[in-house]
Amino acid sequence: MTVERSDALVFYGATGDLAHKKIFPALISMVRRGTLTVPVIGVAKAGWNLEQLKARAKDGIEKHGIFDAPSFEKLCGLLRYVDGDYRDTSTYIALKKELGSAKFPAHYLAIPPVLFGTLVEELSKTGCASAGRVIVEKPFGTDLESAQKLNAILLKVFDERSIFRIDHYLGKRAVHNMLFFRFANSLFEPFWNRTYVDSVQITMAESFGVQGRGGFYDQTGAIRDVMQNHLFQVLTNLAMEPPVRTDSESIRDEKIKVLRAIPTLKPEDVIRGQFKGYGQEAGVAPGSTVETFGILRLEVDSWRWRGVPFFLRAGKCLPVTCTELLIRLKQPPTMFRNYDLACNTIRMRISPDMTMALGANVPSGDETHSRKTEMLATRQPEPEDMEAYERVLGDAMRGDPTLFAREDSVEEAWRIVDPVIKAHTPTLAYEPGTWGPPAPPRLIPGGGWSDPIVANARAEPSIT
Ligand code: BG6
Repeated sequence: MTVERSDALVFYGATGDLAHKKIFPALISMVRRGTLTVPVIGVAKAGWNLEQLKARAKDGIEKHGIFDAPSFEKLCGLLRYVDGDYRDTSTYIALKKELGSAKFPAHYLAIPPVLFGTLVEELSKTGCASAGRVIVEKPFGTDLESAQKLNAILLKVFDERSIFRIDHYLGKRAVHNMLFFRFANSLFEPFWNRTYVDSVQITMAESFGVQGRGGFYDQTGAIRDVMQNHLFQVLTNLAMEPPVRTDSESIRDEKIKVLRAIPTLKPEDVIRGQFKGYGQEAGVAPGSTVETFGILRLEVDSWRWRGVPFFLRAGKCLPVTCTELLIRLKQPPTMFRNYDLACNTIRMRISPDMTMALGANVPSGDETHSRKTEMLATRQPEPEDMEAYERVLGDAMRGDPTLFAREDSVEEAWRIVDPVIKAHTPTLAYEPGTWGPPAPPRLIPGGGWSDPIVANARAEPSIT
């Protein structure tokens, strides 16, 4: 089957926050690399004109990307703007005119999901959707039922192969590379299982709050915002079996097996927290109980992983911004009984730097003691690295679905978290700048949570 390249990119929500922070910086990088040469049509209801959109693009790129005048000029040459209401057919008639001879447009819906239904219906009615594809943002739905409804809406007009559900974590180089790291090396496979692994912990910490996105965040919370999607993607990359081939479906088939093996969570598998001061954020409802911090304890009930607890932790206003996972191995039946031995660990950092560290015991001082040391390989991000949004937008426009969530895995992910989201367990207050509220023993990995430390050159974990 030939997969057509998109010959135009239409993005809805062109004057919004996501466009400013992520989409324009991604677009200019694509222009610089020569991978974007087709018309880019921004759509929004803002009463703006093209010049205002260009000014907004420039500001976004200067603040959140890499600006250079020649590439920006080229991008401006590709940029069009349609101003109009998403509920109004004339918006799509104007869009159709801008699309001109484009036959395979990619429609990127960077807008609230409540508008999806009307939008895709209008696209179909006005002939803007035919042979096109649609790109949507996570969280895809707010629970299993709404995800299924949303999907039904998209499937009325687009087939599954033309639907690209963005989880930008999959576009991060370090997440993307986890599979290469695991399956291009024989070193790790022998111990990557329940016989040797004691526990797995994954932390996504952010030192900032909701950054003016209170309205969105208060409808979402940490579990829906980053755990059901970003952290589940990291978890599936870590836990999946080797795919038989590298094509998108072989990879996505293995990922869904991991999610299917995870039993639905119960209230005792979760703790939710809220940083003090969250209630005063703009857009947050008075007395909101939405969580800005969460810990989930999961099992992957498979031949490889049964009995190994997986702990996921994410939060806003924590001490650092860092995503990292730590695999802790079991103690060997050692004869060095008098030494205070630490468990071996494999630490993989996704951001801000890419790090792989193997934690081992070595004799210290007069050799009567042991000390834990890490063999460490680390790589700082380089300016020419491809940012996640550039990667996923480019892949969607080329029609490669590998780095996108397939509907069955989105639904499995909701199945796992749905009951605990709806259980309304208490939200415990925590001080900004701390590691969240105290967790009960069931939600603390053996040996304790490893709180990432972010230093400039070398980053080491501390066990708390
Ligand atoms: C987004 C969430 O999907 O991911 C944000 O909505 C979060 O709340 C962001 O801050 C983190 O992404 P990154 O790429 O900055 O780590």
